[in-house]
Amino acid sequence: MAYNLLKGKRGIIFGALDENSIAWKTALSVHAEGGTFVLTNAPIALRMGQLKELGEQTGSEIIPADATSEEDLKNLVTKSMEILGGKIDFVLHSIGMSVNVRKGRSYMDENYDFTAKGWDISALSFHKVMQTLYKNDAMSEWGSIVALTYMAAQRSFPDYNDMADNKAYLESVARSFGYFFGKDKKVRVNTISQSPTATTAGQGIKGFNGFINFADQMAPLGNATAQDCADYTITLFSDLTRKVTMQNLFHDGGFSNTGVSREVMDKFE
Ligand SMILES: NC(=O)c1ccc[n+]([C@@H]2O[C@H](COP(=O)([O-])OP(=O)(O)OC[C@H]3O[C@@H](n4cnc5c(N)ncnc54)[C@H](O)[C@@H]3O)[C@@H](O)[C@H]2O)c1
Repeated sequence: MAYNLLKGKRGIIFGALDENSIAWKTALSVHAEGGTFVLTNAPIALRMGQLKELGEQTGSEIIPADATSEEDLKNLVTKSMEILGGKIDFVLHSIGMSVNVRKGRSYMDENYDFTAKGWDISALSFHKVMQTLYKNDAMSEWGSIVALTYMAAQRSFPDYNDMADNKAYLESVARSFGYFFGKDKKVRVNTISQSPTATTAGQGIKGFNGFINFADQMAPLGNATAQDCADYTITLFSDLTRKVTMQNLFHDGGFSNTGVSREVMDKFE
């Protein structure tokens, strides 16, 4: 359902890899709500993924950028303003990758070069994106910046590995930068803490299938899907949430506040 909530708004969407990506669904929903945007991903992801297709579907240009490269980000921000014809109203940071997870290294056996690389991609990149936007005065007043996170930032989940630490850092950056962006430019910054979702990044986590089913049976409303996440993100980009900032917003069907559910209890009785 479209409400024209983003009519006239311009943005940048990071992290659409394929049609399962949360950023992919968000791009389609933003388009349906009347927003225009530039799509971006790491050069390697552009070679492997299907972003061109999404660009055609939404009439969007694609600018490659490695989110760890300040030079790439500056180019992205400057070119996006030229292409879209003005300052940016919304930004989605939907980026995550743990090299330790990918290479099968456990949390008790980290390779610290991998840890540093994963942190740069998954956490510090959010600061780099915001610093680039801030320094280039690229955000419109009452603009909105959203990054995606997971509850392993607050509670331990054995197989989430070093991504848990990356998410804790990411959420902290949202608060810290949110203060300055709010004060100086009237821009809001939030993280959405999303349910486990079947995407390339999600399925990289060991035991993902058991885990997604467990979360679904715990949450009174069931897991939030990628499309649900897209819908929620639209509200945060819209003018209806102007005073929401520096928050970590749980979007998980109630999982984070559930002690135990009847369904899970039944398995132990
Ligand atoms: N899937 C889940 O269960 C889940 C749950 C909560 C939060 N999240 C978060 O949602 C976000 C999106 O992930 P997703 O689940 O849609 O998976 P995805 O694999 O579709 O998206 C991850 C994206 O990060 C991009 N990326 C990796 N390295 C990059 C770099 N150096 N520069 C720019 N982009 C880079 C990838 O190309 C990819 O597009 C991530 O932050 C993830 O941690 C996912």
